[in-house]
Amino acid sequence: MTTGTALTAADLRLLAEAGGLAPSLHNSQPWRFRPTPDLLGLEVHADPGRAVPAADPDGRAMHISIGAAVFNLRVAAARLGREAAVRLLPAGEDTQPRAVLDLSAQARSPRPFGADLYPAIAQRHSSRHPFTNRDVPEALVADLITAAQDEGVTLTVLEEHGVRRVLTLTSEAEARIAADVTREAETRRWLRLEPSYDGIPLAALGSHDRDARVPMRGFAGHPPRHTTPAGRFEALPQLAILETHFDGQADWLRTGQAMQRAWLLATVHGLRASVLHQAVEIPDTRWRLRDPAEGPAHVQLVLRLGYGPSGAASPRRPVEDVLDPADG
Ligand SMILES: Cc1cc2nc3c(=O)[nH]c(=O)nc-3n(C[C@H](O)[C@H](O)[C@H](O)COP(=O)(O)O)c2cc1C
Repeated sequence: MTTGTALTAADLRLLAEAGGLAPSLHNSQPWRFRPTPDLLGLEVHADPGRAVPAADPDGRAMHISIGAAVFNLRVAAARLGREAAVRLLPAGEDTQPRAVLDLSAQARSPRPFGADLYPAIAQRHSSRHPFTNRDVPEALVADLITAAQDEGVTLTVLEEHGVRRVLTLTSEAEARIAADVTREAETRRWLRLEPSYDGIPLAALGSHDRDARVPMRGFAGHPPRHTTPAGRFEALPQLAILETHFDGQADWLRTGQAMQRAWLLATVHGLRASVLHQAVEIPDTRWRLRDPAEGPAHVQLVLRLGYGPSGAASPRRPVEDVLDPADG
C-alpha cells in the first residue's frame, strides 16, 4: 500500500514551473505534467502538438528536452523535501507517459545532487554571447563529467582538434539546414512564437580563421539580427559533447537529464552554456561528430561552455497550459 503525503496545488505548481523552465529545441517546450490519481507523483507526457518534425523527425531532441524537464522536477522535488523515484517509459517506447516520478517518499538528503541546484533552475539561460578566453577549471570539468556520468551519459570536454572538427561539421550542417526550405519554414514558425530565440553566431566561433560574417541559424539569405562583431567571440570555444552507448528514447531522456544536471551545476559556479545542435540534426554529420578513436558511442548534444553574460530569460508557456488538473 502506498503511503505519503498528497501533493498540494501549490506543490504541483512549483513542480510544473520548475519543469517548464527546462531548455528545449526552439523553445518548443514539448511537455505536459499530469498528477497521478493518488497525488503522490507526476507523469511527464510528450505534447505531440509541440513537435518539430523537420528538424527532429525521430523525436530525439524532443526527448532530450523532456529529459531536461524531468531533471528540473527531480530538483524541485528535493526542494519540497521529497525523494523522486523516476521510471522512464513505464509503458514502453511510443506509449505515454515518457516518465513517471514517484514523489511519495521523504527526501533522504536535502542536496541529492551535491549542491542546491534549485535556484539555478530560474537563473540558467542559454548564453549566446561572446565568452572570455578563461578556461573552465579542471575541478569543475571533473564535476560536470561526474554529474553526467551519474545520469548514465558520457560528457567529454574536447581538445583543440576535437573542437575544430565539431565547428567544421556544425558549419557544414548549418549550410545544409539553411538550404532546406521545409526546415527554414519550420524554424521561422517557432521563431515567431519565441522572438528572443537566436542561434549561435557560428562564423564568430573560431573566428581567427574565418571571415567576420555572422550567419544565423535558420536565417540564410536574410540579414542577421545578431550584430556582435565576430572578433569579440572567443577564438577557440570550449565545447563538451554528451554521448550514450545506445540510441533509443530512454538514452535521449537520460541525455536530457545529464545535460540539465551539468548545466545547472555550471550555473551554480557562474559558468554559462549554450547548445550547438546543427551537426547532430543530420545523420551523417552526427556520425562524423564521434571521435573515431573512441568506439561506437552516439553523440547526442554539443554544449558550448564559458564565462560571459548569462543570457536573457526566454518566455515560457503559462503553468495552466502544461499542468493537467489534479482530477484530470
Ligand atoms: C535539444 C536542444 C537543441 C537545441 N539547439 C540549439 C541550437 O542549435 N542553437 C541554439 O542557440 N540553442 C539551441 N537550444 C537551446 C534552446 O534554444 C533554448 O533552450 C530555448 O530557446 C529556451 O531558452 P533557455 O535555454 O534560455 O531557457 C537547444 C536546446 C535543446 C534542448
